Amino acid sequence: RQRVFSGVQPTGTLHLGNYLGAIRNWVKMQDLYDTYFCVVDLHAITMPHEPRDLLEATRKSAALYLASGIDPEKAAIFVQSHVSAHAELAWLLQCYTPIGWLRRMIQFKEKSQKQNAEEVGAGLLTYPVLMAADILLYGTDLVPVGEDQRQHIELARDIAERFNHKFGGSKWKKLGGRGGKIFKIPEAFMPPAGARVMSLSDGTSKMSKSAESDASRINLLDPPDVLANKIKRAKTDAFKGLEYDNPDRPEATNLITIYSLVTGMSTEAAAEEVCDLSWGEFKPRLADAVVAHLEPLQQRYNLIMEDKSYLDEVLAKGAGDAEEAANRTLNNVRQAMGFQPRP
Ligand code: TYM
Repeated sequence: RQRVFSGVQPTGTLHLGNYLGAIRNWVKMQDLYDTYFCVVDLHAITMPHEPRDLLEATRKSAALYLASGIDPEKAAIFVQSHVSAHAELAWLLQCYTPIGWLRRMIQFKEKSQKQNAEEVGAGLLTYPVLMAADILLYGTDLVPVGEDQRQHIELARDIAERFNHKFGGSKWKKLGGRGGKIFKIPEAFMPPAGARVMSLSDGTSKMSKSAESDASRINLLDPPDVLANKIKRAKTDAFKGLEYDNPDRPEATNLITIYSLVTGMSTEAAAEEVCDLSWGEFKPRLADAVVAHLEPLQQRYNLIMEDKSYLDEVLAKGAGDAEEAANRTLNNVRQAMGFQPRP
């Protein structure tokens, strides 16, 4: 079976963009592929962090994977820092990744500008190499992510190609290896709709955990009245009726997309249903649909958080399964690079 790997950073709370762009698609994939879903806590320290918040966000994120329908019998659910192969492979890859490739990353440029230049940690620059290590350790074929991760996956492919070329093939064979490619070349998998969910306060910027205003995003754990209120206050325009895909109306396109995804309608059907409604008529309908979709997820989440030992068991089993797969790849890399085998 083909392999699938993906992850979410445990920073802040997960929002509808994380869910519609990524997690919801993982659920569909777990029946068809060998799946690994990771809470990438090592990535969460590339921006200044509070230890207590990290601890809490890591458990919450894992519980939200489960509440979204990821089944620990089908998928390995684990915490990145529990499998030390991630950090180790990241180091090995870093030494062969040109700094220029990393400086070109859009997210690095954006995030480093938000901080005092003196305080930007080296990890913010090397972040995508750790992400490449995550993916390459599992011989991943497909990486289900939102649009904003496309460039990082391109980079993971470039790193893998370069590494295979430099250390794979006959050179590796002479060192006692199997020869051929060390890493499989992964591909990004993006949903046809939902790969870029936009902010409620501005239809031209993406919904994000780090946006200052909480009113700009729909958090998966927002109570129904908060959700309804945020949608009520979402930015509108002065056009009559509602339209999907009019470039002058990004807010309408975004809210219709969300409506279609939470009701299970095609975007065409959703657009047709609401085209004659005013914003004032559409918003309560959207709010009801979002609440109806998230309520069962929130109920499952609350149950999961009540039982501390269940989540611990899931994460322990996930880490064990992941470690086994990851160490196989890591041992190949060590051998191909000429590291002394442990006696
Ligand atoms: P992160 O934690 O920022 O986001 C997690 C996932 O949610 C998607 N996403 C969105 N999708 C649609 N609309 C949005 N507004 C939106 N915002 C976020 C992201 O594309 C992502 O799929 N570097 C990654 C985490 C990571 C990873 C990996 C992912 C680390 N290692 C290996 C895949 C494979 C990140 O920061 O995602």
